[in-house]
Amino acid sequence: MSKARFGMVGLGTMGRNFLLNIADDGFSCVGYDLDAEKRRLLLEEGKQWNVMAAESPADLAGKLETPRSIMLLVPAGKIVDAVIEDLLPHLEKGDLIIDGGNSHFTDTERREAYLAEKGIGFLGVGVSGGEEGARLGPSIMPGGSRDYYARVAPVFEAVAAKVDGEPCVAYMGSGSAGHFVKMVHNGIEYAMMQLIAEAYDLLRGTPKSLSAGEVFADWNKGKLNSFLIEITATVLKKIDDETGKPLVEMILDTAGQKGTGKWTSQAAMDHGIPIPTIDSAVSMRQISAQKDLRHDIWASNTWAEGTESNTPINNFQVTIDNLHDALYAAFIVSYAQGMSLLQAASEEKGYGLDLAEIAKIWRGGCIIRSAMLEDIRAAFAEDSALPNLLLNLKFAEEIKKNLSALRNTVTQFASAGIPAMCFSSALAYIDAFSSERLPANLTQAQRDYFGAHTYQRIDKDGVFHTANWES
Ligand code: 6PG
Repeated sequence: MSKARFGMVGLGTMGRNFLLNIADDGFSCVGYDLDAEKRRLLLEEGKQWNVMAAESPADLAGKLETPRSIMLLVPAGKIVDAVIEDLLPHLEKGDLIIDGGNSHFTDTERREAYLAEKGIGFLGVGVSGGEEGARLGPSIMPGGSRDYYARVAPVFEAVAAKVDGEPCVAYMGSGSAGHFVKMVHNGIEYAMMQLIAEAYDLLRGTPKSLSAGEVFADWNKGKLNSFLIEITATVLKKIDDETGKPLVEMILDTAGQKGTGKWTSQAAMDHGIPIPTIDSAVSMRQISAQKDLRHDIWASNTWAEGTESNTPINNFQVTIDNLHDALYAAFIVSYAQGMSLLQAASEEKGYGLDLAEIAKIWRGGCIIRSAMLEDIRAAFAEDSALPNLLLNLKFAEEIKKNLSALRNTVTQFASAGIPAMCFSSALAYIDAFSSERLPANLTQAQRDYFGAHTYQRIDKDGVFHTANWES
């Protein structure tokens, strides 16, 4: 039997689907998983194509043409290192390992350096789109050595989602660029998901005649058109077979997380880039997970009895229209925050990211795909060094047009007593960046008072310290 062009380790749904997608595009491939049942499923689902299953790492290496290209789609963390160690004895110089999981970018840097010492190539590749995307066309964010990428580029270009005939894959940059970009993609994903959840929370108070699912379906036809709005409409309409109620209402209100959103916040802190809407989304997942504490606080006498009554919503149509425009503005802010982090990290880490290219490959296949990414692509194509989307004329205009709706919506949330950390932070982000003067003068005065940290003055150059603030 002839040897395979592409190998995969990890035949869970993602790995199997990705490999079947490759086979479907005419590339011969071989998959390996410890679990015999997953290997059997691969052979069964891939029987009409050129797909093989390997029984061991040695068998996998033996079934691949050289130099070998082996992708890992296994859970991020220690398992990636363990799989690399299992493969190493069977590899030769010039072979290539591709990590397609959500690995932390520092792990990717470590692994690339470790394998380089052995003459083995390593690419850290972000893959977005979930199980369906893996099978039908994901968005792919490859990082590492350009030469190694060239070897697998034809495979990735064939399997990636297509928008206007163009594949949603592009070389991101050196080292950990691919995994860094995927991490920020997920940070934006967290923000958009939490904004949608907050919008749904507000819509839950609307009369029964207005179904939230219909509202989202309607929104998906316009400028909010996106994968996340589309699936929200579908999810909200699903009825639970057992109770006859909307299934979403039967789901426990504690959100899980695998860590990519938190990593985005941590990286942003390290780079000194504010991304408060993404941070808020991470915080809201954490608050949701503290279900017992929330219950105790809610149930305690102080909170259950002593709070003022919340103002009911009285004009739903105005609320919904405002909410639509507010969500649009807040989506822009979420992308703006993520992109500003990518811009700064690219400079500091020497990735050489092309933000227009990133927006372009996010237009299809990935979880944050949306109609507005085409305008984001155009904004960075016009000015590749744009530090913040809010500086782009078109987006500044869009924000200005929708600002009063965002302000009204945040007011509505506040007076209805519905938590809206992401909407509020998006508004505060716009207000802060568009304020010529912030109250940081007082912060500086306090720092000087208690720590002699000094301050600058508005009327003359130099650094000042006030020895005695009390007289
Ligand atoms: C994607 C998703 C994918 C995964 C997230 C979920 O782009 O396809 O982002 O990578 O669904 O890792 O992350 P949480 O478990 O942290 O929500």
